[in-house]
Formats: sequence, structure tokens, C-alpha cells
Amino acid sequence: MDNRPIGVFDSGLGGLTAVKELIRLLPNEDIIYFGDTGRVPYGNRSYETIIRYAKQDINFLAENNVKCIVAACGTVSCVAENIDYDINVPYTGVVLPTCRAAVNETENKRIAVIGTSATIKSNRYEKELKKLDNEVEVYSKECPLFVPLVENGFIHDDNQIAWLTVKHYLDELKDNAPDTLILGCTHYPLLKSIISKVMGKNVKLIDPGMVTAIYTKTFLEKEGLITERKEKGSHDFYVSDSTECFKNIANKFLGDEKDMYYNVRQIDIERF
Ligand code: DGL
Repeated sequence: MDNRPIGVFDSGLGGLTAVKELIRLLPNEDIIYFGDTGRVPYGNRSYETIIRYAKQDINFLAENNVKCIVAACGTVSCVAENIDYDINVPYTGVVLPTCRAAVNETENKRIAVIGTSATIKSNRYEKELKKLDNEVEVYSKECPLFVPLVENGFIHDDNQIAWLTVKHYLDELKDNAPDTLILGCTHYPLLKSIISKVMGKNVKLIDPGMVTAIYTKTFLEKEGLITERKEKGSHDFYVSDSTECFKNIANKFLGDEKDMYYNVRQIDIERF
């Protein structure tokens, strides 16, 4: 048993897709979330910068005495695969849980992956998928405009800009006839409805936030780290830009449980 909080971070608010699922699966756990809203997006930055940012994000959560750290960010999970940090806290990214889910789902062994530029250039999803099943064919595509679309709330089916952008990136992927599509960035589930309509209903979408939350729950249970508390956990949110920006958009990720948003604070992440 371990009553300390679960630490979750992302470059921005996309990691809230994992938090939403963690709250559903583990309602009694305390959660501390850090969204680096002042420095988002990470996906078009250099390898060195992404590593430096990821280390600061991890240091912040570790200072808050979390029992495990979830990098709910496809970009950090791919680029900082073997990040060397001297903190003795269990750590997971989204790549392994997502690839396992995709390999379990695919029937024709044709898997497509979309993500930020840094994610796709790292080839990390492809390597992990091939490690799990060397017969799978992997088709990857970077979609650099998806994160700004989501962070600006351009996510609804009737938004023509969102439709055109999704079609622009995904039409060509369809030619490879994948039956499974990894949403390799935790922001992308907010575009799920449009992505699904563009790809067609026979293509299964793998949501990294959801499968990583399931993976985290299984890990905590296996390691005996689940809280013994019987009442609902608390949820503390930290950002590196103004808390107003967070409040304006967080409900798109978390749903309408507004009481959760009161615990949002701004920090100076450069201190960590
Ligand atoms: N949610 C992040 C990811 O999963 C967004 C990346 C970015 O900041 O560019 O990759």
C-alpha cells in the first residue's frame, strides 16, 4: 500500500486524457499533474531541448514525493526513451502500453502511427511494434498541426479547419490499408471523432492516455502500491503558463467535473 500521489506530466494538456482515465480507474488515488503549457509544443524541438524539459518535469514531480511518474506525452516517451535521471521512482511512458494494445488489436498486421515530428523521426513506435511482432507492417506520419488545433479547441466535427487538416495528413495513410491506428500523441484523442470518420469505421484507434492509465493501474496493483484510502483522491494541477488558460480548455479533456479545476497553480519549471 502506498498513499502517495501518482505523478503525471505532458508538454501541455494532452496528458489530461490519461488523467481522466486514471481518475475513472483509480478514483481513490491522489494525482499530481504538470502541464508545461508555457513551453508547449515539444514536438518540433531538438532532441536536447526535449530531454532537458523532460528532466525538469520529472524533477518537479519527484520533489512532490510521487510514488510513480507517468510521462503522458508521446514525444517525451519517444525521444527520452532511456532518459538517465537519478531519481528512484518508477517511470513509464506511453509507447509500450500503446504498442501492446495495437499488436493485440490488429488482424491484418498493418498498423499506422501518427505523432509529432519528433515522435515520428525517433522511429520509437515502429521499433517497439516490431519487437513485439516482427511481422507487422508499420506506416508512420507526422501531423505537426494537430497539437495546435487541439490546444485551441478546434476539435469538433463541424470545424472545417480541423476536418481539412485531418484529411490532409491521413488520406495518404489510408492507401496502406491499416486496420489499426496508434494516436501517438496524447492530444490526438480529442480529434478522435474526425480521425475515425476520415480513416473509416473499420480502423481501430488506440488512445495512448487510456491504455497508459490501464497499464499504470496494473503496475501499481502488481507492485502493491495502490492506496488504502477509501475516499476519493485529490487532484492537483500545475502549469507553467497562466492558470486561466488551463481553466479555459481543461474541461475539453476532463469533462465537466468542474470542482477539480480549483487546484491549479502556476510554477516556474526552469527552477527544477
Ligand atoms: N501531448 C504531447 C505528445 O503526446 C504533445 C506534443 C507536443 O508538445 O508537441 O506528444
